[in-house]
Amino acid sequence: MEPSNNKNKMPYVVSSKSPTAVAINAAAKTGEWIKSRLGAFKELGTKLSPQDLVTDVDKGAEIMIRKLIQTHFPEHDFLGEEGVEPGPEASSKAVQELEDSEYLWIVDPIDGTTNFVHGFPYFCVSIALAHKGEIIVGVIYDPMRDEMFVAEKGKGAYVHGNLMSVSKETELAGSLMAIGFNPEREFALPNNMKGITALSTRTRSLRAAGAAAMHLAYVAAGRVTGYYEVGLNVWDIAAGVLLVTESGGKVTDTKGNPYSLSTRHLAATNGLIHDELLGVLDEAGATGL
Ligand code: IPD
Ligand code: CA
Ligand code: CA
Repeated sequence: MEPSNNKNKMPYVVSSKSPTAVAINAAAKTGEWIKSRLGAFKELGTKLSPQDLVTDVDKGAEIMIRKLIQTHFPEHDFLGEEGVEPGPEASSKAVQELEDSEYLWIVDPIDGTTNFVHGFPYFCVSIALAHKGEIIVGVIYDPMRDEMFVAEKGKGAYVHGNLMSVSKETELAGSLMAIGFNPEREFALPNNMKGITALSTRTRSLRAAGAAAMHLAYVAAGRVTGYYEVGLNVWDIAAGVLLVTESGGKVTDTKGNPYSLSTRHLAATNGLIHDELLGVLDEAGATGL
């Protein structure tokens, strides 16, 4: 029998909930708190570059999510943006170390921090669970619109309980494409600018709202036809990738290779315009690969 003082040090474990329910609960609670701090954050710092922002709210939100998850699944691994050194090398190394984990939670506490800092109401919490490198749960919560996007591997993707499906455009010419102005300005931004220039005359229009995870949720919901960006991190996209594929869309790297947790240059579409998009990016030298 264990001495009672050791017993007191054991984490409190509640084991009856499904991972999806835990992710939804963590995203909802944390999202509400983030919303309550809009316009009221206390510290503003920069990471890799002056454009790469972080606040006390990003850090606090990640701690909240980690605690909520570990209450139920203390044996699972956890990869959150604020626990990794800034920059692509550190993030790739963290993925390499953890991608074979039996269960790995991948968390972006606030995707769209620049928007959060400016009070532009487009940011979200992104939580994914991977089993041996395969994403099995993806949850994205937009606290400003109170929209909860949820996907489970093989079970479809839902927004507030309604089944989602990708849009039906068959050509880039009729497509609304999401893109990103990546904060890393040496490699990622120039590649993205080549893609943006090429796509600007080939699509119906482009949108860059500043939150990769939410762009992917919008691809899944059929609100944009696709999304492309060079220079993303696993926490930006893991949950959104499952939302898109479970909504009938297609996700690859920018050269058309299958998505894996180490993919950083991403193309996610309704599937119908995927090859045309990859062709335009290739022609423009905008794949980053
Ligand atoms: C950023 C946003 C942005 C994308 C960047 C990401 P953060 O994430 O998703 O839209 O262009 O590549 O780093 O820093 O707001 O979590
Ligand atoms: Ca992010
Ligand atoms: Ca973030």
